[in-house]
Amino acid sequence: MDIQTISKGPFEGQKPGTSGLRKKTRVFMEPGYLECFVQATFNAIGGAEGKTFVMGGDGRYFNRPAIQTMLRMAAANGAAKVIVGQGGLLSTPAVSNLIRQRSTDGGFVLSASHNPGGIDADFGVKYNVANGGPAPENITQAMFEQTQSIAAYYTLDTADIDLSAVGTATVGPMTVEIVDPVTDYQALMETLFDFGKIRALFEGGFTMRFDAMHAVTGPYATAILEETLGAPAGTVINAVPSEDFGKGHPDPNPVWAKTLMDEMMSDTAPDFGAASDGDGDRNMIVGRGIYVTPSDSLAVLAANAQLAPGYTGGLSGVARSMPTSAAADKVAEHLGLAAFETPTGWKFFGNLLDAGKVTLCGEESAGTGSDHVREKDGLWAVLLWLNVLAERDQSVAEILTDHWGRYGRNYYSRHDYEAVPTEAANALMDGLRGRLDALAGTAAGGLDITGADEFSYHDPVDGSVSHNQGLRIWFAGEARAVLRLSGTGTEGATLRVYLEQYAAPGADHGLSPDVALEKVRDAVVELTEMQAHIGRTEPDVKT
Ligand code: G1P
Ligand code: ZN
Repeated sequence: MDIQTISKGPFEGQKPGTSGLRKKTRVFMEPGYLECFVQATFNAIGGAEGKTFVMGGDGRYFNRPAIQTMLRMAAANGAAKVIVGQGGLLSTPAVSNLIRQRSTDGGFVLSASHNPGGIDADFGVKYNVANGGPAPENITQAMFEQTQSIAAYYTLDTADIDLSAVGTATVGPMTVEIVDPVTDYQALMETLFDFGKIRALFEGGFTMRFDAMHAVTGPYATAILEETLGAPAGTVINAVPSEDFGKGHPDPNPVWAKTLMDEMMSDTAPDFGAASDGDGDRNMIVGRGIYVTPSDSLAVLAANAQLAPGYTGGLSGVARSMPTSAAADKVAEHLGLAAFETPTGWKFFGNLLDAGKVTLCGEESAGTGSDHVREKDGLWAVLLWLNVLAERDQSVAEILTDHWGRYGRNYYSRHDYEAVPTEAANALMDGLRGRLDALAGTAAGGLDITGADEFSYHDPVDGSVSHNQGLRIWFAGEARAVLRLSGTGTEGATLRVYLEQYAAPGADHGLSPDVALEKVRDAVVELTEMQAHIGRTEPDVKT
């Protein structure tokens, strides 16, 4: 075994509280950088001796060499076995599933999610624990502490192994099992959904476009939608993972999946459109002529999940992140289900899922999932929609209209202000924070303010408390604004403003979101003194 000492000084990069590391690819490629993060992770979990891990990534630039490095390090750290996806590929939900199915000690996902890939773009590594979910806070804290003091890592001087074929190999004394990335994941999907019903839907002429965005869901969607469910060839587009995602952002929203959006809004639109991100955990759902916001998608799935075999017993509860719209709460209220509001970030759903308190959960940022794994799952959401469409025999537009008629419509939009100078963003947030207590009873943007606070989460399972999770302002007429700073941005600060306006059943559900949300938007601009702080009031991206 080789012990490499690090001479370039203390490793920096990991932020406290994150289960992974996302950086420029060239930074990850600096000698010792990836190695230090991986060694810090092994150290933080009490070593790798005798353990089994899952490993795979989204196919972006540096995926394959990074896996070879990590395999050598796992072997040098005494791991017994690593299960790797063929070609180094595994989606995030597939890693979560393999960890659970094979009862491994944990797993590594190599991805920077929806960020672009390439030598001049982004790379990332995250660590998931034995329940299949992102590392919880005690481990991320230990990882952070390790990265601050690490001075050596362990590796072997061995050749790369061939990951191109399914089978077994060895790295030093360690076994490597190379698995088809799709098989176990597809088997899980077949237990949850009525594949026969969905096949019949396609046989009946139902048309669909799935945009894999040159990322990891290409092989999954092709195998499941085309080869198993009988959707015609060409249903899945951009299906071959490429190292730079075809030079695009593998981010499934109306901005980055514009080609798909344009097709879905055209005269020749198929019945159903969907897309997933780099590592396959996010989803976008769009019907012919109608975009479904992730918040609405969660609510529709919560209201209809029992139509799919995996959920016939009903749901134990529904959870959403705080900035996500209250559409899912309306469904929970009607169905008498428990509803939970968690901070932004998937890791907060883990305890609720493990404790059986919720079956479905989701975020406004295009993440939806259930207790089948411990990550959000893009293709799962698409298959649940397909199962619902097959059972209800209605279009996406009809299902949404019907849903709003029953539960009301939560108009919703997120406005992102990117690359804001950090001090300016902090000053804007601090300014508002300082006035929160005085806001109730005043008015802004022509709306009466009924309350305001800073969100703290009390985990009902382990009793832990997470503070500073976003500023919330409520207005008369069931409107709400939320402000928080992104934890995943790479340049300056990203200010996220989440706008919501409820329209009860029977109210006008045909407005454009911009019109419905105008007053709330104006209120935020006024209350934050946005122009004075950041020199603009128009966001870079609206989703
Ligand atoms: C963003 C999303 C959040 C998601 C996270 C990881 O975080 O808003 O919902 O869990 O990416 O995919 P943010 O940049 O807002 O901190
Ligand atoms: Zn992702």
